[in-house]
Amino acid sequence: MTPHDLLVEATGIRKSFGATSVLRGVDLRIAPGEIHALLGGNGAGKSTLIRIVSGSLRRDAGDLTIRGDGPNPIAVVFQELALLPHLSVAENIYLPHLRRGIAPVRAARRRDEARAALAQIDERLAREALDRPVAEIDLHERQLIEIARALGSGARLLLLDEPTANLPSPRASGCSPCCAASPARESAPSSSRTA
Ligand SMILES: Nc1ncnc2c1ncn2[C@@H]1O[C@H](COP(=O)(O)OP(=O)(O)O)[C@@H](O)[C@H]1O
Ligand SMILES: [Mg+2]
Repeated sequence: MTPHDLLVEATGIRKSFGATSVLRGVDLRIAPGEIHALLGGNGAGKSTLIRIVSGSLRRDAGDLTIRGDGPNPIAVVFQELALLPHLSVAENIYLPHLRRGIAPVRAARRRDEARAALAQIDERLAREALDRPVAEIDLHERQLIEIARALGSGARLLLLDEPTANLPSPRASGCSPCCAASPARESAPSSSRTA
């Protein structure tokens, strides 16, 4: 594999918050199809690195290359919920496509795609909750909808920042196989130790 095949190539990433040096030269390489786990105690800098790789936080130093087609090659799921409560479950799952300005498709097709993404995580939710406003959905189930949204986004790289930390363990373990097997989304919370 040449460097041109890598989805993420980060070298010497550094980040400080005030006097606190959080990332001190992190290297990270993610190839298509790989699954990485980023290990470190609370405050080690895992979320900081994920935010830098996904583009929501500026690094102080280091080189970062993201390779992928389309305007949004990365989908991130955080612990904090980012759903729009007044929209339906299906509309929330389809939201990344609307944001990217893809030509409108018929509502039925959009709903079918949302159902397929959600069914990978929870078949009962996909059957029963698709048209309900997110505001009516149980908090645990909202987290599953977040993960389904990332799976359905078509992104090539899926970054999971402990999105199942607050879920009961059967729910959390139910998410792992589908995230790992998710076809186009060669996934990854990342690899290097930052502690
Ligand atoms: N926006 C911020 N402002 C100041 N300090 C921050 C900010 N974000 C993270 N930190 C600090 O950076 C360190 C790493 O945080 P974080 O990346 O969230 O760790 P982890 O995800 O591994 O628990 C912690 O000491 C945290 O307090
Ligand atoms: Mg974190």
